[in-house]
Amino acid sequence: SATYENITVRREGRVGVITLDRPEALNALNLALGAEVVAAAEEMDADRGIGAIVLTGSERAFAAGADIKEMASRGYADVALEDFFSTWDRFAALRTPTIAAVSGYALGGGCEVAMMCDLLIAAESAKFGQPEITLGTIPGIGGSQRLTRAIGKAKAMDLVLTGRMMDVTEAERSGLVSRVVPTAELLDVAMETATTIASMSLPAAYAAKEAVAEAFETTLTAGVRFERRTFHATFALADRAEGMAAFVEKRRPDFTHS
Ligand code: CAA
Repeated sequence: SATYENITVRREGRVGVITLDRPEALNALNLALGAEVVAAAEEMDADRGIGAIVLTGSERAFAAGADIKEMASRGYADVALEDFFSTWDRFAALRTPTIAAVSGYALGGGCEVAMMCDLLIAAESAKFGQPEITLGTIPGIGGSQRLTRAIGKAKAMDLVLTGRMMDVTEAERSGLVSRVVPTAELLDVAMETATTIASMSLPAAYAAKEAVAEAFETTLTAGVRFERRTFHATFALADRAEGMAAFVEKRRPDFTHS
């Protein structure tokens, strides 16, 4: 597979791991890094042998935001014509379950990309924020929307308007993160969680992810109807028959992802 300059990519069993690797800029998300993350993630998404993707950074920083030095000299026409940051929409559109394993700074675009992931596992050292206002701009990779849906208007307005950072205690209390773990255990817990998810039936996992994601897009009645039809559709899966048979027969299921 491809070689990358701003990330490293590896695979452990059915889990794909993407590590942001621009330490000189605290993993700031420049366009090259974004293109690499999306290319690597889409390759994993297309691979039926991969059932979960972990996205992580360094101990010091998941990512300290979009690359301010790359943005500084651009004008409106530049960012409008190139549809600056729209590449990241492709990360949000992945079908494979994604886990952000966040240690250190997850600011601006870093917080936004972490929030695109299905689970967000945070180290005790994690710090979240949307400091764009301090630069005279606003979030641009979905922060105003995903943060508000995740933690509500009161906290989202507080963070987006003041640019302050939120520690992991506040982030967990607010509902931003799935779990908080000691910093030294972050990757182990993320890998263990990813391995569990990847051991499930892949088409069932796609359906589960899609159904929960639908809750952010639609009304309750339409969402429940969508869930019900999708639930019914899982009865066409060999894995659904196997999963229920295994329970009845008191054995572990042998999912074939079909
Ligand atoms: N873009 C470009 N470079 C960055 C960066 C960023 N977002 N964040 C950090 N860096 C660089 C620094 O410039 C520095 O490089 P040099 O050594 O060449 O000067 C290096 O990374 C280390 O950073 P610091 O020396 O600043 O480290 P620190 O420990 O003193 O501070 C920090 C850490 C508080 C995270 C600080 O770096 C910081 O405030 N970074 C910017 C955070 C920010 O504003 N993010 C939002 C970006 S805008 C955005 O994301 C838009 C969007 O929604 C799409």
